[in-house]
Amino acid sequence: MRTFSPRYIVAGLLLCLGSLSPLPANAAGEAELGDLLVKMIQAGRTVMAKHQVEINNPDLVDKGFTPEIFEKEITQKYLEIAKYDLSQPQKSPQDKLVHALLQAGKDVVSDHQGAINRTGIAYKNFIPAVWARKTGEKFEKATGVRLKLTSANYRYQGNKPDDFETEVLKLFEDKEYPKGKGYSRTMMQDGKPVLRMVVPEYAGKACLSCHGEPKGQRDISGSGKEGWVEGSLAGAISLTMSLK
Ligand code: HEC
Repeated sequence: MRTFSPRYIVAGLLLCLGSLSPLPANAAGEAELGDLLVKMIQAGRTVMAKHQVEINNPDLVDKGFTPEIFEKEITQKYLEIAKYDLSQPQKSPQDKLVHALLQAGKDVVSDHQGAINRTGIAYKNFIPAVWARKTGEKFEKATGVRLKLTSANYRYQGNKPDDFETEVLKLFEDKEYPKGKGYSRTMMQDGKPVLRMVVPEYAGKACLSCHGEPKGQRDISGSGKEGWVEGSLAGAISLTMSLK
């Protein structure tokens, strides 16, 4: 039998409070779509990370990180992690949303061409987290679906966790909670039924130059490091989608 620590139970209870309102019985289709959208952010962050060294090269005039290259690479990555082929024609409303997110991500890469190809400065603040934030903002404007990064020790004010995200992040911190498992539920928010989905991410070696130790020391972006070690819960990708 599994035993849960008191903290896990408290977090679980708090999360249950949202379920007392009437909700659509079956949101399986929306959950599947939410999962696809979250995976696009994961894929885009990986592609962005792969190009960081050249983006931050102060001598290179043309970094070659065009929206087309971005699309080609995210298409490959997405096929791998989401088993979804972005080169296929769009058929369903679900496909339209997935492609709207791809478009938002490409537009952000396009908007940053000037910064990317600027010479004379190394760090340009065009990093995976910034790409994800700006892509999420564009996507929300276009579709009403909210996608954001969040963290208990967030840097960007707009990434601050709301009450629900705070509880889920606590749940993810619990040793009893299965590592890597996302949490989703339907709930009433501002009088409307929504699907909320939160998927954890953990610090890998590549994150520690900015988010690692010693805590408080300035990183390349000028902010204080968080003091994370490899495997620390870094934060999460959070999705809010209204249900019909
Ligand atoms: C080059 C330094 C740098 C590296 C490397 C880096 N980050 Fe960040 N991270 C930042 C900055 C700067 C922000 C704030 C982004 C913004 O303005 O939206 C941020 C934001 C975040 C956020 C959103 C919450 C917040 O703080 O606003 C998460 C989650 C996050 N990073 C996780 C990671 C993970 C996981 C990795 C490794 C895979 C990583 N970061 C690598 C600098 C970095």
